[in-house]
Amino acid sequence: MSTDPKKLPGADPHTGNREIDPVTGYDTTGHDWGGIKELNTPFPKVALVALALTVAYSVIAWVLLPAWPLGRDYTRGILGLDQQEVAEERLRDLATLRADWLGRFEDPDFTALSNDPELMGLAMPAADRLYQDNCSACHGRAGGGGPGYPVLHDTYWLWGGAPDDIAVTLQVGINAAHPDTRWAQMPAFDWMEDGQLSALSGYVAAMPSDEADPDSEAATLFTENCVACHGEGGAGGLMNGAPSLVDDTVIYGQDEESVMVSLRNGRQGVMPYWSERMSDAEINALSLYVSRLPDDGAVDRTETPQASEGSAAEATQ
Ligand code: HEC
Ligand code: HEC
Repeated sequence: MSTDPKKLPGADPHTGNREIDPVTGYDTTGHDWGGIKELNTPFPKVALVALALTVAYSVIAWVLLPAWPLGRDYTRGILGLDQQEVAEERLRDLATLRADWLGRFEDPDFTALSNDPELMGLAMPAADRLYQDNCSACHGRAGGGGPGYPVLHDTYWLWGGAPDDIAVTLQVGINAAHPDTRWAQMPAFDWMEDGQLSALSGYVAAMPSDEADPDSEAATLFTENCVACHGEGGAGGLMNGAPSLVDDTVIYGQDEESVMVSLRNGRQGVMPYWSERMSDAEINALSLYVSRLPDDGAVDRTETPQASEGSAAEATQ
């Protein structure tokens, strides 16, 4: 660069005097447009350096990493990184890890398995995942059920709440397309007279609070038409899919109106079967999970209306 002060930017070419802008303190470039002068504020060096660095980085990245699309292919970069391979490898590791414990559910001794805390710690979170993915849409996130879908975290069962019973329910479903499905139907009693139907509805609605009159005409109707499926006094327990009518859990509702609908139209809920969609081991792990829903953990993730003091198997149990 020249040391001649007359050639410095902002210096007067004849006198070499610099002109400093009084407001900003910058030199001016000496350009003058009708009294408006241009300040000599060059592009900041730090920005130029940053720009150069990013350009350098991108060039290095193009060389090392997958970068440019080439039709159906792409430049791979000399490091040869491939996210898909990484993901597949991790998945293989996971599957191996899972096979180790899942194998123990193939022909399970449920009592022994549930007494193995280490195994439970691996299996129950996985079963919770299965439950949330496949079951929660109908039965609620914590098994709280909802109108038409039974509660799974209580002690009342249509088909039994031991893990083996639940496993059968899952394998074949209820009123499902499986040839061995559990089958249950509440027949329609539309042949009854309206008076009989409403007397019966009132009677059934009063059963859980023990206020149903045992000497009424409705009580006789109930004995003649209902106990064959719903058990003596409506107490259920016949393991035929007919719920108890004396406890406070309901599937469809046990107020007079809902009972009337059940009587007029009948009911036949469908629970899909899972033997084609899950392995036996998965079904068994899930059955153990469902059977444990009532007794451990106090986490209720249910948003469905019926569930109140529900509990979910804590993932870390
Ligand atoms: C499409 C809705 C739906 C899905 C999904 C579903 N269920 Fe069900 N489930 C039902 C219905 C409806 C019933 C009751 C059938 C009846 O009314 O007889 C039922 C009944 C059951 C029962 C019997 C309850 C008893 O008291 O004996 C169990 C256990 C059960 N389901 C577990 C599960 C599990 C575990 C899953 C997930 C793999 C699942 N269900 C997925 C609708 C569903
Ligand atoms: C053939 C067997 C059978 C007979 C007979 C029968 N029921 Fe049912 N009932 C069922 C089954 C099975 C269900 C469950 C249906 C379902 O879950 O989809 C049921 C469900 C019900 C429900 C719904 C309960 C709830 O929790 O929402 C009511 C109420 C009911 N029955 C009342 C009666 C009355 C009253 C009679 C006699 C007039 C009667 N049932 C006769 C099998 C029967």
